[in-house]
Amino acid sequence: MTAAKTDTPQRVLIVSSHPLFGQGLRILLRERKEPDVEVVGIVKSVDEAVAAIDRVNPDLVIVDYDDGRVNRDEFLARFVEGARRLRVVLLSLKEGGSEAIVYDRRTLAASQIDDWLTEWNFAEKPSASLAGQAAKEMEQPGLHDPSRTGRSLLKTLMNQDRVIDQRSSNMKHLLSAVVLVIVLSVVMVLTFTQLPLLPAAASLQAQPIDQLFNLHFVLIGVLFSLIVGFMLYSIIVFRRKPGDDSDAEHIEGNTRLEVLWTLAPLAAVIYFSYLGAVALGEVERPDPRPLEVDIVASQWAWRFEYPASQLISNELVLPVNQQVRFRMVSNDVIHSFWVPEFRVKQDILPRGNNMTRELRVTPSEVGEYTLRCAEMCGELHARMEAPVRVVSTNEFAAWLEETAAMVPEDPIDRGQYWTRQFGCTACHSVDGTRIIGPSWRGVYGHEVQLQDGSVVIADEAYLYESITDPSAKIVAGYQNLMPNLSDQMTEEQIQEIIEYLKTLSE
Ligand code: CUA
Repeated sequence: MTAAKTDTPQRVLIVSSHPLFGQGLRILLRERKEPDVEVVGIVKSVDEAVAAIDRVNPDLVIVDYDDGRVNRDEFLARFVEGARRLRVVLLSLKEGGSEAIVYDRRTLAASQIDDWLTEWNFAEKPSASLAGQAAKEMEQPGLHDPSRTGRSLLKTLMNQDRVIDQRSSNMKHLLSAVVLVIVLSVVMVLTFTQLPLLPAAASLQAQPIDQLFNLHFVLIGVLFSLIVGFMLYSIIVFRRKPGDDSDAEHIEGNTRLEVLWTLAPLAAVIYFSYLGAVALGEVERPDPRPLEVDIVASQWAWRFEYPASQLISNELVLPVNQQVRFRMVSNDVIHSFWVPEFRVKQDILPRGNNMTRELRVTPSEVGEYTLRCAEMCGELHARMEAPVRVVSTNEFAAWLEETAAMVPEDPIDRGQYWTRQFGCTACHSVDGTRIIGPSWRGVYGHEVQLQDGSVVIADEAYLYESITDPSAKIVAGYQNLMPNLSDQMTEEQIQEIIEYLKTLSE
């Protein structure tokens, strides 16, 4: 640009009988950042122009291409008679002034005019900014290499078919890209809706959630296609031709497009938040008389309590088509209740201070599912699962009876039963296998090496303390991880567990 500066026209003569054209152009030129252009005159006719050229000695003449009263042919003819070197721009402001078409000009001697009329080429450049366009024209004489477009000015003076050709070619590209986007969208949406992306839905709450999911899949498919479709089309159709090292056209921006692509996503997000609120309302809607089930989560076991039947279970059995209200607490860290087929999920927090969390589910399909902990909760998080069975109302009643009858008569068997119900066996094996805590096999009555180096005999008092105050004595090689479940047990249950543990050393 700085090199071109010495060539920059200083003196501009405007030829137009329309006052708006001349004055408007003068203002636009004056508002340019670099005040290197001076409008030395605005004339209304060819005669005035010829006279002015002699008088003001312009470097550049801008002729109103669309002004019928300025006969540009006559202007050029008179111009031929002179022996001056001039730059001339024919400037068209048709299209209601929203676009300017600037024809290229070269520095010409009068003797070259004959050649110029037959040879001179142009590059039409639609632009939203007349000032920018005119300024560029003047700052960079010879910017448009005539050989690049190879179109005759004269032909264009006859009609503007070429411009229209360019438009219809643009329209063809746009239509092709739009067709590609539509085809891609259909493929994406069909793929998303036909593939089994979600597990089976087995609760009433799953319905509004899946509706939202499916709507999102459609939106994702269309948005993906819109972006990738136009991108693919441009990469393939407008790729650089061999040997073409020209720069791309500079694009300034498009206010209408920017407003559109700001408002459309905003409206979509607001609409989806509305849909989300409606769905949440449906998912959380309480039934007046739900089945109550209390859930106790601990590292790394689940316990299910049925308060109405005073039952404890390690298996979650639910009647179909009845809402269940889960009240959930954790004995240690944060866990999370998640049965994928029910869709809903709820974090479970350590007990105390109203930390009980509620979740309502209405199982709608008889079947067997798996409850998974969905919150990273330590070493065996991945194995913190429990079976879930959704059964008919009759089967559920039968199961309640069966389970109630399953509590063993014999105190030692009962002790074993409690260790399973309270989830102790998730961490303690009975066969000597090391899991998270020490195995119970052969512990009672034997020496136990503790973390602090001391050795104790595992008597009844030791076992009792280890259940009611688990962190009091830590066995060497193990961590202090065990939750204190004793306040959830009766004294009788604790004694029965100890009796059972004794039998493991026989
Ligand atoms: Cu409990 Cu993960």
